Amino acid sequence: MEVRVFFFLQGLVSMKNNFRWLADKSNLISICAVSTYLAMVFLSLFVKQDFLRFSAILFQISVSCTIILFLLVKLFKVQKKNKSMGILLGNKRNQMSTLMNMLPDMVWLTDDKGRYSRVNRVFADEIDLPESMILGKTSDQVWSRDTADKLSKYDDIVLSKNKTVQYEKSLKDANGNQGWLEIKKTPIVDDNKNIAGFIGIARDISGRKNAEDERKELAAHLRQSQKLEAIGTLAGGIAHDFNNILAAIMGYTEITISEITPDNPLFKRMERVLKAAHRGKDLVNQILTFSRQHEQQKQLVRMDLIVEEALALLCPIIPKSIQILSYNSGDVPTIYADPSQIHQVLMNLCTNSAYAMREKGGNLDLRIETCDLDESNRYIYEGLPSGKYVKLTVSDTGPGIDPRIANRIFEPFFTTKKLGEGSGMGLSVVHGIIKSLNGAIILTSEPDKGATFQIVIPKEEEVLKEEQLRSKLVSSGNERILFVDDEESIAEMAGEMLEKLGYEVISLQNSMEALDIFQKQHAKFNLVVTDLTMPFMSGEELAKEILSIRSDMPIIMCTGFSEVVSPEKAKKIGVKEYIMKPFLHEELAATIRKVLDTPSA
Ligand SMILES: Nc1ncnc2c1ncn2[C@@H]1O[C@H](COP(=O)(O)OP(=O)(O)OP(=O)(O)O)[C@@H](O)[C@H]1O
Ligand SMILES: [Mg+2]
Repeated sequence: MEVRVFFFLQGLVSMKNNFRWLADKSNLISICAVSTYLAMVFLSLFVKQDFLRFSAILFQISVSCTIILFLLVKLFKVQKKNKSMGILLGNKRNQMSTLMNMLPDMVWLTDDKGRYSRVNRVFADEIDLPESMILGKTSDQVWSRDTADKLSKYDDIVLSKNKTVQYEKSLKDANGNQGWLEIKKTPIVDDNKNIAGFIGIARDISGRKNAEDERKELAAHLRQSQKLEAIGTLAGGIAHDFNNILAAIMGYTEITISEITPDNPLFKRMERVLKAAHRGKDLVNQILTFSRQHEQQKQLVRMDLIVEEALALLCPIIPKSIQILSYNSGDVPTIYADPSQIHQVLMNLCTNSAYAMREKGGNLDLRIETCDLDESNRYIYEGLPSGKYVKLTVSDTGPGIDPRIANRIFEPFFTTKKLGEGSGMGLSVVHGIIKSLNGAIILTSEPDKGATFQIVIPKEEEVLKEEQLRSKLVSSGNERILFVDDEESIAEMAGEMLEKLGYEVISLQNSMEALDIFQKQHAKFNLVVTDLTMPFMSGEELAKEILSIRSDMPIIMCTGFSEVVSPEKAKKIGVKEYIMKPFLHEELAATIRKVLDTPSA
């Protein structure tokens, strides 16, 4: 009986043990096997015949053995499967590492607390730490604060809200270069649908960003150029007609003035008309230059020599509190341009800087160098074609230009000066000239850090000798000049300026003394420049005396607005040219050259 109970229990245990598997299988064969087994257990317990009982017990033993064997085989198979799964998982991990390391982007995985659980090689290289020292740490433990803030932005959203995020951030690399990253993070969800961490990818998009910036910059340049072009066309059209109107006003005013005496009440009024008309003419000239409708006398010129000459004119009029420094890289900066226009460019830029620094003083730097424009930098200069250029940089240490007005300064009539102090045409004229030379001008400025204007003009390969070029420049020379003006500041300034241009100058304030020197050394002088109104002896008297000593002596007369000398009167006195005060230094220099270069009749 004990034996039977034992077998019955054993039968139940094996049934219980195998029930799950059998239930899992739930196939017909399993059910049949179980039924047969139960029948055999019943037989072994309750059938009296020994043969049948013995057979049933034997069947039970054999079935139990089969089931045990079967279970053992199954267990073995499960273990084998687990092992191969382990190998497979291990392989997958390796494959993933290989894949992560092959990517050119930074890739990292974190746990649900944002601690790094895996990082790829690019990531480790970027921090310059081995992977083992990164794992288990959070971003602020391995990156600088700024970088960590940018890299870990939105981590909480990814981890708490199961959302994928994508954003762009600018970052500085180890060398301090500014770059851009596109960062994407997506959550990792485990089998129970819990967020186990996230996977992050950061891609370097600096190239794309730079290209976008370049495109934007070029588009802005284009818009600005088109705007100025349109204003130029409009203004240029009006200026031409206006010039003709002004010529008529000036001509008739001059005739009227020559026909009335200074005591006539109309005399003063006519003078005012003439003065205003002159100002109008200057303005029209500037508009014509800006709209590139001015006749240009282009020739090969050397930028360094024009700068030298402009500085000679500028130095005397620029306050001593402003230090002028000029630098020349040593290359021969030859360009094809109208020298007087380049002169104008320099004068306008430098006077703007001097005006900006008039109160506090500062430095005015002029640099000339040659440069190559290529695909990497030509977008900076309004997208000019690649090639060799001469670059002129004028920078000052003044208050700089407010970014809010920076894109307006090249517009004609834009000025921040008080009414009557400036026309606002200076930079528009500069812009027009540079454009007509197929060059570009760009401004870089920050408030309180001064302003820098960079000009690039195509470089000419033909190299001319210095003397050849000097003779082509408008206003320098080496002749001997007697300069007379009773006003001390004018006599001093003009003397200094003309000496800088290469002339030998004797500058005096007393006309009697001037006549005395001329009498003694008349053979040494090539030209006399004299003011008209002076005490003791007027310019007119001095001119007569000088011409009585040397009838071929060229004389230039400087007159004020209230001392208009008509061409007829000037001719009668015997002076070659007259210029109206206050004159620009370049105007004086150009008039001197004109007189000296005109052969005497
Ligand atoms: N170096 C500079 N520093 C600061 N501001 C400047 C400088 N150069 C130009 N600007 C600004 O640009 C404006 C326009 O200059 P632009 O030369 O065209 O006219 P302007 O100097 O005002 O008048 P004008 O040249 O007719 O005397 C100036 O009024 C000034 O606000
Ligand atoms: Mg100006």
